[in-house]
Amino acid sequence: MATDRTDRSTKAQLLQRIQDRTATIGVIGLGYVGLPLAVEFAKAGFHVIGYDVSERVCSLLMGGDSHIQDVPASEVAALVRGGKFEATTDESRLARADAISIAVPTPLSKTRDPDMSYVIAAANAATRQAHRGTLVALESTTYPGTTREVLAPALAERGFVVGEDVFVAFSPERVDPGNPVYHTKNTPKVVGGITPDCIELASALYSSCIDTIVPVSSPEAAELVKLLENTFRSVNIGLVNEMAIVCDKLGVDVWEVIDAAATKPFGFMKFTPGPGIGGHCIPLDPHYLAWKMRTLNYKTRFIDLASEINSQMPAFVVEKVAHALNLDRKAVNGSKVLVLGVAYKRDIDDVRESPALDVIRLLEELGAEVSFHDPYIPAVREDGRMREGVDLTSQMLADTDAVVVVTDHHSVDYQFVMDHASLIVDSRNVMRNLVQTKARVVSLSAAAPLSPVTA
Ligand SMILES: NC(=O)c1ccc[n+]([C@@H]2O[C@H](COP(=O)([O-])OP(=O)(O)OC[C@H]3O[C@@H](n4cnc5c(N)ncnc54)[C@H](O)[C@@H]3O)[C@@H](O)[C@H]2O)c1
Repeated sequence: MATDRTDRSTKAQLLQRIQDRTATIGVIGLGYVGLPLAVEFAKAGFHVIGYDVSERVCSLLMGGDSHIQDVPASEVAALVRGGKFEATTDESRLARADAISIAVPTPLSKTRDPDMSYVIAAANAATRQAHRGTLVALESTTYPGTTREVLAPALAERGFVVGEDVFVAFSPERVDPGNPVYHTKNTPKVVGGITPDCIELASALYSSCIDTIVPVSSPEAAELVKLLENTFRSVNIGLVNEMAIVCDKLGVDVWEVIDAAATKPFGFMKFTPGPGIGGHCIPLDPHYLAWKMRTLNYKTRFIDLASEINSQMPAFVVEKVAHALNLDRKAVNGSKVLVLGVAYKRDIDDVRESPALDVIRLLEELGAEVSFHDPYIPAVREDGRMREGVDLTSQMLADTDAVVVVTDHHSVDYQFVMDHASLIVDSRNVMRNLVQTKARVVSLSAAAPLSPVTA
């Protein structure tokens, strides 16, 4: 299917169109990844066609609005007005595209196997609309082999020779929603293609709007780069979460231990414990690799162990709440508990896979009356039920038996919470440097008094 024989004119024409910005770029999937990428391509001077199956997303974008926190509506509006960007549910518009980037979801099935249905649907759409000279780049995080085994064969089935008639690459997205420093443009981008020409063309495409390109020799290497990055985070978060449990049992403050370890100028990288992991990436992506390796009869033990520890953290936090209420001679059953922060991480409005949802569910299973406050999230849909957030008032805090800090948003006034609540279980260590006023604060690893030194 792939070939070393390159039709110089097909490749040269596409390269020229990329270089002089006359190429039209298609982006399939306009979510957290696809929309910022589409905007960067449009800002670089290309005409960009964003294709999404969601009518709501497309009409919102065409109305000059944005559903992604990191992409200002004003930017979308200016690009739509200037004719640089269009969002459409009409797949056939992609027929005009010289290059197509695919950024659709890669969730897990109920049995925690890869759900490839979105990637397959997008690959089929790109294939139907491709023409001689089209470059197709997959951005969705996936198992090694997807680009060569799913995307390239779809194009080959239409009679294209990959590397000659059409070009195929994998380039993982590294966007970090809410990061004030690193965005799509200034985050180095890894690119791996089926043939050297595929790598060259994809590198040329992305270098038009991204500062640094890191070419690797194959799509499999590029697919694995992303999985290594996210597995690295999952494993290290799992390690510090286990350290929090260890410290709790030893009566040592885990935050003090980590902060002191982080003063080592080499050989240590700081990770912090918490109530568990969330989002579309860290809890899911490593399972793509674990699944692939199971098919090769290999068990990825680090991945499985980290996942096991991280997924137990919501229960560990709820156990802390139960113990803390017990000290106040209260049962969880019937207690009013406020969950502070439901986003999966600070300063963003995304609840996907958030550990807060598990904390709420576990508390409710024990009979607590649970409410939540999150400055970024007014309401949450969980198990088909819509739950509205509450305002953070002195009266509400005073009426609450326990506050559980799950997400450490910067905009919350934690001193106000300290001044009015009676009990705070702080899974993020946000209370550490505040003035101890009314509330009793319980940390993830509460330091118990150590035994006196005996001779
Ligand atoms: N969100 C992140 O922080 C992040 C970071 C790096 C990588 N990723 C990866 O990027 C990929 C996309 O994630 P996301 O967070 O942008 O997802 P998302 O859910 O925010 O957006 C995906 C979009 O694709 C659309 N879509 C679904 N199927 C489609 C189809 N067949 N055709 C056209 N549009 C379709 C959906 O309507 C949605 O608007 C995933 O593989 C994810 O793992 C995400």
